[in-house]
Amino acid sequence: MLTDYSRIVVAYDHSELSKKALNMALNLAKQDKQIQLNVVMVLQPTKPLPYAYGFVSYDDSQREELNTVRKEIEQDLTPLPNKTRTFLLEGNPGQMIVEFVKQNNADFVVMGSRGLSGLKELFLGSVSHYVVQKAPCPVLIVK
Ligand SMILES: Nc1ncnc2c1ncn2[C@@H]1O[C@H](COP(=O)(O)OP(=O)(O)OP(=O)(O)O)[C@@H](O)[C@H]1O
Ligand SMILES: [Mg+2]
Repeated sequence: MLTDYSRIVVAYDHSELSKKALNMALNLAKQDKQIQLNVVMVLQPTKPLPYAYGFVSYDDSQREELNTVRKEIEQDLTPLPNKTRTFLLEGNPGQMIVEFVKQNNADFVVMGSRGLSGLKELFLGSVSHYVVQKAPCPVLIVK
């Protein structure tokens, strides 16, 4: 089954479930060095208000934090013989992830059911819900 998928995207927000998703994707990649692994993190705009005026702003310290996380992940990926890449995108997470999948012809997404938000009444968070609905390929939801 695994070799059917050659370009994997891991959606990573540094939550426990996204760590689990990354781990699972790493294990998949270890089974075939032809599998390409792309770890995608999306920095969300800070304030919702500027949207109304067409301005979007980002928190520089959050960007720095995510860049540090990105470097840590890159180190974890180094031992793999596979082609691996990490990305820090900016915008609406669900939309950016789906856009990335399309642009890069990815054929498999791995992500957590929930992320950093504390609300747990629903099984899926808004990002995983959006990606499952809109991605053009299979999505593995880790729980
Ligand atoms: N900013 C992000 N960048 C990359 N992947 C993300 C991002 N946010 C969420 N994800 C992915 O989506 C999964 C589910 O997170 P999601 O954000 O949907 O749930 P939540 O944080 O619990 O709820 P919500 O954000 O809707 O309040 C995460 O485990 C992660 O794999
Ligand atoms: Mg979230």
